[in-house]
Amino acid sequence: ARTIILDCDPGHDDAVAMILALGDPRIDLLGITTIGGNQTLAKVTRNAQSMLAVCGREDVPVYAGCVRPLVRALEVAPGIHGESGLDGVELPVPTVAVQEQHAVDFIIETVMSRDPGTVTLVPTGPLTNIAMAVRKEPRIAERVQEVVLMGGGYHTGNWSAVAEFNIIVDPEAAHIVVNEPWPLTMVGLDLTHQALVTADVEERIRAIGSDCADVVLGLMAFFRQAYRDNQGFDDPPVHDPCTVAYLIDPDVMTTRKVPLDVELRGELTVGMTVADFRAPAPADCTTQVAVDLDRERFWTLVVDAIAAVSRP
Ligand code: BDR
Ligand code: CA
Repeated sequence: ARTIILDCDPGHDDAVAMILALGDPRIDLLGITTIGGNQTLAKVTRNAQSMLAVCGREDVPVYAGCVRPLVRALEVAPGIHGESGLDGVELPVPTVAVQEQHAVDFIIETVMSRDPGTVTLVPTGPLTNIAMAVRKEPRIAERVQEVVLMGGGYHTGNWSAVAEFNIIVDPEAAHIVVNEPWPLTMVGLDLTHQALVTADVEERIRAIGSDCADVVLGLMAFFRQAYRDNQGFDDPPVHDPCTVAYLIDPDVMTTRKVPLDVELRGELTVGMTVADFRAPAPADCTTQVAVDLDRERFWTLVVDAIAAVSRP
């Protein structure tokens, strides 16, 4: 099994990433760390707890992280995720408290206390916590197994013409994370726009017939309307679980090694993830981007996970 920390801002698709991490036996989820992004830190932290309650997994610890980006003001996304950050369903009130330890310290302590090369970081929100962690304890850069993040895009944006939400919310943090020497996979919009909740996917989820499946369907109905109204999509893309799917089964997508950086100063391009495809990646290149999704493999993983967390 792959041992991971999920650093997220639930968030409709973050919620699906949580379910996949909880439901698939090939993932060992050590903890959930939260970051202000889709909504405020308080809201997304509560949402993480509520999703654990939905999945009957309040044994998984939740650590709250940074309230705002390193340099810029926090921009939330109510147009995509609603005022609660998880609009579309009535979620259970959490029964377990959030951990006292700060998310950044949990990440550092976990990576430093476990064997080198055994913990993978999976950020699916702005990268503030991860950047803070590696600045506070630089040795984690050699100790984590890899970083598999949802963010960016090499040919497309969604929050500006060229920038994706998780990156543009805290571009300085993304710049730090992308330039550390750890192996890093950027699962960007190029890939996640292939993970669309089509009508037949919804049918497969409905066929599960559980409370968790109903929660996912309610969330996806809201997400669908938000993507129709704001992003010109018929079917909503579930970005975040693509990261977890890659860790469960690398064959779920193709990847390409390429040097990556993040634009910090461009008037039109701040937050753009810049991939340099001009030549074959140098031998010491530690970054890669996700390219093509095997949709059938992906949805089978997600549907199976929803069914698995639903079992009493
Ligand atoms: C990313 O931004 C958020 O809205 C989603 O949860 C996802 O992590 C997509 O741009
Ligand atoms: Ca997210």
